[in-house]
Amino acid sequence: MGAARGLLAALLAGLTGASATVVVLANTPNPSKGDKELGEYLSSMCVGCHQLSGRASGGIPAIVAWPDEQFVAVIQSYKDGTRDNETMRTISHRLSQEEIEALAAFFGGLPPPKTP
Ligand code: HEC
Repeated sequence: MGAARGLLAALLAGLTGASATVVVLANTPNPSKGDKELGEYLSSMCVGCHQLSGRASGGIPAIVAWPDEQFVAVIQSYKDGTRDNETMRTISHRLSQEEIEALAAFFGGLPPPKTP
């Protein structure tokens, strides 16, 4: 019966781990509605220019650790022409609302760079 008991213990440990994750997510001050995994996938379009480290480089601004609404609003403003930038206009036009929210969730969840 030792094996069964070990399995039960492992199951219980797994369950406790899972519920702990839920609690952590529920307590996050900036809950994202976007799909982070989709955002991570889509971020391959962005990271050729924008650094995942959150550092600005070569005239490319940092885009990590922003609140979701702000990120979404900025991408929208490139889309509707309120902000005029050739590169970002082209890119934003390719993104659906769901994809923008996913990117907001992914980039927003990245830590800002530590100031040296
Ligand atoms: C070819 C390079 C390039 C790529 C690829 C690119 N960007 Fe940008 N992005 C820029 C530049 C340059 C700016 C600054 C534009 C401006 O002055 O308004 C910018 C600005 C931004 C801003 C506003 C930053 C601020 O501080 O106001 C956001 C948000 C952003 N990009 C998100 C993205 C996302 C999300 C992707 C991928 C889907 C992406 N970018 C892909 C070059 C790029």
